[in-house]
Amino acid sequence: MSFSFSSGNNLFKTLLIISALLIYLIFIFLPNQHPNCSASDFFSPFKTKTCFVSPTITTTNSSQETNSPTNLSHLGFGLLGSEKAWHNRKAYIESWWRPNATRGLLYLDKNPTGDDILPWSTASPPYRVSNDDLITGFLGEIKPRDPVMIRMVYAIMEVFRELDNENLRWLVMGDDDSVFFVDNIVDVLAQYDHTKYYYIGGQSEFIMSNYWYSFNQGFGGAGFMLSYPLAKALANDMENCLRRNAGLNSADLITMVCIADIGVNLSPLKGIHQIDLRGDISGFLSSHPKFPLISLHHLDKVDPIFPNMDRFESTRHLMKAAVVDQSRMLQQTICHHRQTNWSFSISWGYSAHIYEKIMPRSYLQNPIETFEPWSSTPRPPPQYMFNTRLPSNDSCEAPHVFFFKKVKKAPAGILTTYSRAAPRGLPPCWISGGKHSAEVVSEIRVLNPATRRKEMDRCECCDIIRVHGAKAELKFRSASLMRSLLDQ
Ligand SMILES: *[C@@H]1O[C@H](CO)[C@@H](O)[C@H](O)[C@H]1NC(C)=O
Ligand SMILES: *[C@@H]1O[C@H](CO)[C@@H](O)[C@H](O)[C@H]1NC(C)=O
Ligand SMILES: *[C@@H]1O[C@H](CO)[C@@H](O)[C@H](O)[C@H]1NC(C)=O
Ligand SMILES: *[C@@H]1O[C@H](CO)[C@@H](O)[C@H](O)[C@H]1NC(C)=O
Ligand SMILES: *[C@@H]1O[C@H](CO)[C@@H](O)[C@H](O)[C@H]1NC(C)=O
Repeated sequence: MSFSFSSGNNLFKTLLIISALLIYLIFIFLPNQHPNCSASDFFSPFKTKTCFVSPTITTTNSSQETNSPTNLSHLGFGLLGSEKAWHNRKAYIESWWRPNATRGLLYLDKNPTGDDILPWSTASPPYRVSNDDLITGFLGEIKPRDPVMIRMVYAIMEVFRELDNENLRWLVMGDDDSVFFVDNIVDVLAQYDHTKYYYIGGQSEFIMSNYWYSFNQGFGGAGFMLSYPLAKALANDMENCLRRNAGLNSADLITMVCIADIGVNLSPLKGIHQIDLRGDISGFLSSHPKFPLISLHHLDKVDPIFPNMDRFESTRHLMKAAVVDQSRMLQQTICHHRQTNWSFSISWGYSAHIYEKIMPRSYLQNPIETFEPWSSTPRPPPQYMFNTRLPSNDSCEAPHVFFFKKVKKAPAGILTTYSRAAPRGLPPCWISGGKHSAEVVSEIRVLNPATRRKEMDRCECCDIIRVHGAKAELKFRSASLMRSLLDQ
């Protein structure tokens, strides 16, 4: 520092600076006297009641408690649904819910009725019906544009208040048709400091949904995660924030706005999938980003993800692989067979493709556009938040398609089997000499190490053990040398 004061005024100027600093410090620390009021309460013109001072967070004394690795018991799930939809959607939640292990609640708009859902299944999360007395009075007061949306956001506070205890580190919010991969959620959240402020979620795949709502919002059906301090701050500011934003018409947007006004922004993660897509999403699921799969949504809005199965069967089928190894779910691994010039692309636990040409990973990582945009109104590209490949009938471009059939734990590792969906019905690829059609292959077997993959720094390598008649056998191993996968 190099302050230079003219000698006579030194004392006066120093005093002036000190008092200015004091006033500044008072302003900085003053809001901390009211930790339960967000900064916006201090100048909100809509403020109608004073901030209530609720007891401060009761931190557990043992530092070991907050430093221990995050596990499933530290997560609280809040699922927002409607009584009407639950009849058709409970199969999605029950596909991943673990009674007595996952902790959380399903929030319904009214009491459940009907023999198909009563008595309430122990395989479902316990339900609550949102407190009508409280919310109806509040809605009458704030006169929102869309009361359903306000109810949904309000429920985040209700879920938090009920699940709040010294063990809670993360609030995981979803819809009644969100399919969560809980082991991966735990692995990913364990990498974050839950005592800091985090809003973790996923954007829409459809570029216009992000534009119409917000590129800054986590889409609720895909699920979003709030660290404890953020969930608490959001709950404390909830009524004020809903008053300020009663004119907005989307629950996810209101949630984002409330969180942004607390001072926190979205951390988008690539494994969180809203599935704002239509039709056959097999192309999308076969080129998953290199990030743990965290969620799938809208499975009742797209075609069943496996051939010859309905939507519920498909979801349960996918979960058969997920219970054995979630860390590899949908992870794309590429290998090349030099004798035939074939490329294999395995989307673990879901599908396998054979291309009759050597294709680099940089190309195969782009999903084949088997799906359609979320909005049926025709509009010029771009439609998606990622690059795609167009489907093709060129035999050097179109894959032979196989789907996950079964998984088995073997002494040497985990064995997954993929079987052919249908004949490809095209001549062999001429570029590769036109001699090696993969049409004969009906089954692909993949052996991988039994260890969970916690680090996704690089994809696994894959060796072709043998291609013999109708069977191809592949083996995964960790990528060793600093070489291109094309050279391995
Ligand atoms: C936690 O407990 C230890 C003794 O068990 C005590 O020395 C320490 O002051 C306590 N810390 C807090 C923050 O209460
Ligand atoms: C989760 O961590 C807590 C410590 O915070 C520990 O007491 C508990 O046993 C752990 N639970 C599981 C299932 O590992
Ligand atoms: C869950 O815990 C309760 C009480 O401890 C027990 O009665 C029930 O069988 C458990 N359910 C499952 C699915 O483990
Ligand atoms: C490929 O051929 C099939 C059958 O002839 C046809 O239905 C399909 O539209 C074609 N696809 C493309 C991308 O040309
Ligand atoms: C592989 O493809 C190249 C051309 O891309 C061709 O020269 C070669 O003969 C092919 N190998 C086999 C075994 O078909």
